[in-house]
Amino acid sequence: MLTLAVSKGRILDETNELLIKAGIIKEPVIEGRKLVIEKPEDNLRFILAKPKDVPTYVQYGVADAGIVGKDVLHEKGKGYYELTDLKIGLCRLSLCGIKDKKNNQGEMIRIATSYPNVTADYFRTKGQQVEIIYLNGSVELAPLLGLSDYIVDIVSTGTTLRENGLEELEKIEDITCRLIVNQATYHLKNKFIDEIVEKLERGLSQ
Ligand code: PRP
Repeated sequence: MLTLAVSKGRILDETNELLIKAGIIKEPVIEGRKLVIEKPEDNLRFILAKPKDVPTYVQYGVADAGIVGKDVLHEKGKGYYELTDLKIGLCRLSLCGIKDKKNNQGEMIRIATSYPNVTADYFRTKGQQVEIIYLNGSVELAPLLGLSDYIVDIVSTGTTLRENGLEELEKIEDITCRLIVNQATYHLKNKFIDEIVEKLERGLSQ
């Protein structure tokens, strides 16, 4: 039996689709109030977690493996092996701001984001000093309310930006979901993990 932590929310449908196509599960994992879903017929147990917590469950070994976006992995780093790019949950992390607004040159720029580490790295490599304001979500509010000059956030369809009068200024990185595996599991249940990876890769090429 393998325990797999999957991200709740918008990428669960694509995760189900891939797992079914790969022949790893027969029926989809349904998101409801139940957070641990047993699938004895597939020799699997699923944990439905907030995306940002998936690496934590895997790192501590309460989940053997997890499926989560590269954005989260960049922010949280280490303590697991990253095995496969699953090519689902395609989006990008971008610098965005109020449409057509010019900010004063030379002033300290304020950036609101849920990705403080990635944002700090990005501006460090540009040699630009910024003040980072951490927000948990609905980051688009910050420039609208004058809390920040810009945001660094996920852009998928671009609808949230458009509906709030914001625009994408610079793409920082493309994001897709990855399969991550607990380091001990990787060595102890190697055969099972290899099988899953093989099936996923076959599923991806179909
Ligand atoms: C994410 C992201 C943007 C939005 C982008 O938010 O933070 O707000 O999706 O998607 P779009 O380009 O398709 O409009 P999410 O819905 O995950 O919630 P959050 O704002 O609480 O992070």
